[in-house]
Order: sequence, then C-alpha cells, then structure tokens
Amino acid sequence: MSSKLKRTLQDFLPPRQFEKFMICLIYLRGGDLKKIAELCKTDKHGSHYYIQHYQKYFTSLRWKRLNILEIGIGGLKDLMKGGASLRMWKYFFSWSNIYGIDIYDKSYHEENRIKTFMGSQSDPDFLKEVARKVGKIDIVIDDDSHINEHVIKTFKA
Ligand SMILES: C[S@@+](CC[C@H](N)C(=O)[O-])C[C@H]1O[C@@H](n2cnc3c(N)ncnc32)[C@H](O)[C@@H]1O
Repeated sequence: MSSKLKRTLQDFLPPRQFEKFMICLIYLRGGDLKKIAELCKTDKHGSHYYIQHYQKYFTSLRWKRLNILEIGIGGLKDLMKGGASLRMWKYFFSWSNIYGIDIYDKSYHEENRIKTFMGSQSDPDFLKEVARKVGKIDIVIDDDSHINEHVIKTFKA
C-alpha cells in the first residue's frame, strides 16, 4: 500500500479500526510478527530487539488455543496508555486468550480475548489468584518492573 493511501486511511478511520484494517493486510502477506509489532507500536521492536527471538520460539505455537500472560502492560499511571504488546499478541496468536498484569488499572485495554488484572508482580498471593482465575497458563512473558528481586519472586510464584 502506498504511504499516501495509508496516511489517508489513518486520518479517516478511528485508530483501532485502522489497526484492524492494517492487520488484515499483514495477515494476507504472511502475518510477520515484526510488522504486527510496528503497527501496534510496542517497544519490543525498535527500542529493543526481541521480536526475532519471539518469532523464532513462538511461530510453531501461533495457531494453538493458548492462555498467554504478559506481566507489564505499559503506560505506567496513564490508564489509557499501554496495551501495545497485548494487542500484538492478540493479533499474532489468533486463537489465544491474552491476559495482562500491571500495577496500575489497565482495564481500558480490555476487549475480546484481552483481559487485565491490577496488582504487583512481587505479590505471590496476587499472582496465584490470577493463575486460579486464568486456569492453565501456557506462556508467561515478564516485561514488568525489570527489578531483579521482583523478577525472581514472579518466577518462583
Ligand atoms: C515496560 S512497561 C510494559 C510494556 C509492554 N509490555 C509493551 O511491550 O508494550 C512496564 C509496565 O510494568 C508496570 N509495572 C512496574 N512495576 C510493576 C510491578 N511491581 N507489578 C506490576 N506491574 C508493574 C508499569 O506500570 C508499566 O506499565
């Protein structure tokens, strides 16, 4: 698609509609995770370079019906910011449920197949409660405080 047509669509459509339209085009071209990450504007691609690793390990799981939990939704205190990677996972794993945890309320980002929980990754009781509600969790992605002590507590829980 030409960049002019893309800009026109972006001006014309509400942001989520534009994202969904673009996702259809990305799917038609093979559904590359890097392209999905760019569209959703997650810093997993650009500021960091994790996408090629996710693509390598997750591609074979892509069409399964999984429960995926990401710890760290993004946007800190701003309730409406963040959620980029939750949407990226939703688009990549077309049949899976995506769950997110953040210390701030991120329920604004809930939609079909995306659910959020508010609490701290260093609180084992909270994590166990999330696990009880979700059921079997197939993949956990820890992109939270990045404080070693927290990461270890989460891993143990
Ligand atoms: C790096 S951002 C997540 C980015 C997001 N995964 C993405 O790729 O778009 C980290 C998030 O972790 C949250 N956070 C920080 N400390 C936390 C804690 N102890 N427990 C839960 N969430 C925390 C912050 O509020 C922030 O929204």
